[in-house]
Amino acid sequence: MGETYRHIAIMGPPGGGKGTQAAILSEKLGIRAFSAGELLREEVARGTQEGREIEAIITKGNLVPSRYIVNRMRERIVDPQNAKGYILDGFPRTLDQRDEFEAMQKDDPHIVANRLELDLVLLLQVPDDYVIDRIIGRYACAKCGALYHEKFKQPKTFGVCDACGHKEFTRRADDNYETVVSRLRNYRSVTAPVIPYYEEKGLLKCIDGTGPIDVVAEKIRKVVGY
Ligand code: AP5
Repeated sequence: MGETYRHIAIMGPPGGGKGTQAAILSEKLGIRAFSAGELLREEVARGTQEGREIEAIITKGNLVPSRYIVNRMRERIVDPQNAKGYILDGFPRTLDQRDEFEAMQKDDPHIVANRLELDLVLLLQVPDDYVIDRIIGRYACAKCGALYHEKFKQPKTFGVCDACGHKEFTRRADDNYETVVSRLRNYRSVTAPVIPYYEEKGLLKCIDGTGPIDVVAEKIRKVVGY
């Protein structure tokens, strides 16, 4: 039996399937997934001053400054409840965040003592026309956040969440064509430059993310080794 990775970051374009695959991996490995976007949206929902600043940036499809995200991720990684591992969805996604994350892995005594350093970066590769389709058709359960899609992933019973049985659904404020174009532009110019570093460190595994959800999950299963 090979190694099973337990300290995982999932990267890829907006709508590339990061959240969907993070949720599947989380269930299979019994470790929690943390979405950078979700942590930011939670702050927006709290209605704080910081939440209002974040909302103004997200709704334009831009990336928020690192100070809003790095510490939130660190708190999750060092939380003793997550001692078995973590899945980071959408972090790090700038060179600044990558450097701060690297420094954290070297300097944070809890991370070092408990060997919580990142051991795998999964890169979902999905062309632009796929991600636009996926984002425009996406919706989520208003209660538990389970993800659905008008064409690709409907609940088993129409109008009822598979995961929790709730009957109301929401769409994200940034899921529209204009914002997606700007998110894709930022992905190429700001996030893609983070990737070669992980390739040089031998942590990167590229996954073709174009197939159906279960096919992509199977490719990830083989890499992660569960
Ligand atoms: P975030 O929430 O992370 O958004 P994103 O990166 O744009 O990615 P998405 O959540 O849109 O897509 P996904 O890859 O998770 O795809 P999903 O699985 O949902 O970030 C939002 C914003 O927050 C950013 O724009 C930025 O402003 C800010 N932010 C976040 N992190 C930040 C950071 N680190 N630094 C600075 N700013 C940050 O799938 C999409 C849809 O497709 C779903 O409906 C799903 O059902 C469907 N689907 C999934 N896989 C498949 C498949 N294989 N086949 C068919 N359909 C599929």
